[in-house]
Amino acid sequence: MFGLLAAVCAGNGGALAAAQMIGAAPSAAAASPSTLQVLHWWTSASERKAADLLAARMAEERIDWQDAAIPGGAGLGAGKVLKGRVLAGDAPEVTQIIGVSIAEWADMGLLLELDNVAAAGNWNSFLFPTIQNLIQHRKHVVAAPLGIHRVNTLYYNRALFAQLKLAPPQTWHEFETAAQRLRAAGVQPLAQSSEAWQVAALFENLVLAESGPEFYRQLFVQRSPAAAADPRTANALQRLRAIKGWVRGQLDERPWTEVVAQFARGQAGMLIMGDWAKAELTERGMALDQDYGCAAAPGTGNYHLYSVDTLAMFAGDYRHMPAQEKMARLLLTPALQADFNALKGGVPVRRDADPARMDSCARASWSIFGKGAAVQAPSLVHRMASDEASRDAIIAEVHRYFLDDRAQAADAQRRLGALFRLFNLRSQGAPGAQDTDRRR
Ligand code: BGC
Repeated sequence: MFGLLAAVCAGNGGALAAAQMIGAAPSAAAASPSTLQVLHWWTSASERKAADLLAARMAEERIDWQDAAIPGGAGLGAGKVLKGRVLAGDAPEVTQIIGVSIAEWADMGLLLELDNVAAAGNWNSFLFPTIQNLIQHRKHVVAAPLGIHRVNTLYYNRALFAQLKLAPPQTWHEFETAAQRLRAAGVQPLAQSSEAWQVAALFENLVLAESGPEFYRQLFVQRSPAAAADPRTANALQRLRAIKGWVRGQLDERPWTEVVAQFARGQAGMLIMGDWAKAELTERGMALDQDYGCAAAPGTGNYHLYSVDTLAMFAGDYRHMPAQEKMARLLLTPALQADFNALKGGVPVRRDADPARMDSCARASWSIFGKGAAVQAPSLVHRMASDEASRDAIIAEVHRYFLDDRAQAADAQRRLGALFRLFNLRSQGAPGAQDTDRRR
């Protein structure tokens, strides 16, 4: 779908043509120009609260947020529904598309350019540079950024850790020690699902810990066959297998909310997940720094593995443009950024945000992200590192290795290398998907 449409509608001028060609007009239900249907995947209790806050703030400005939430952690379902709806000529006016997906949709000329809003609001003066890159396509702003999540976040149960005299593990070696002590005390060391994206999220944490952001990029952004064959990839794969040993018996394909619930019930000592889990822990009555602690995942204390949430607007029916532009403007305001992220668990995309409005976990995330590209790593799982097809194939490969104990790290490395060679062949001469942390 993308290839064909991209070829026909390359360039920004193609917006209307592309929208008309596939009938990407807004749904009939959203007839009023100030009604904007918003497709997103914020469906857990805490995510719902954060989305409701956005809807309420829009209502104050006479924008009617018509909710189209599609369940599925990491946007699994939402991505598929969005493609189906666009092809069926029923595109929502606003949609959560993040990372490299922004470039994929913008390449087809389907996204509304928000250059006027960004220029009038002087976005460049306060956005982190990585965020500026992320929302631009061919020098046009095509998305409004909402918040930054830190994917390399470790949560630990403070009562259990105090009882066993444990400190939050800063290295994977220390993690092993903590896991042994928790296991000996009859507690599951780590809450973890075997759902593909959640396994791959753990793997990207391991790669970052093993190698730092530069090698991480070689593997997931450049998708270099040499990086796939590198001993650092082997080490991360072997560590993934070792961690499976710590969760054995409690491994099934649970949605992320259930994994958080297991940790909240005190049935696991640790949890590694993006900081949206923090908001869900609040929902479950857990208080940060009292009931649980937040730290960086082992070995990643100096790094920020990020997923940035963004809303893009579909071009196609220009009657909605004033409301779409107004929404984009409002999403960036300091108050909305602070309030939304306090409910959502992430941090503002603004360099001038007020750290006093952040909890200890958010403050650490925001200040490390502020150190710039050298410490940042774009999350593969959350579409920050590669196009959708490559991402899906890598996640599937890591998942297959994780599930099959007979599979050797070397086999997984060979298979990843073969995939990367294929991606490289495919992308040669094919304009289109760009990486979000591409340098301009
Ligand atoms: C999004 C978060 C969301 C999480 C779980 C991530 O891709 O960035 O906003 O809470 O997925 O679904």
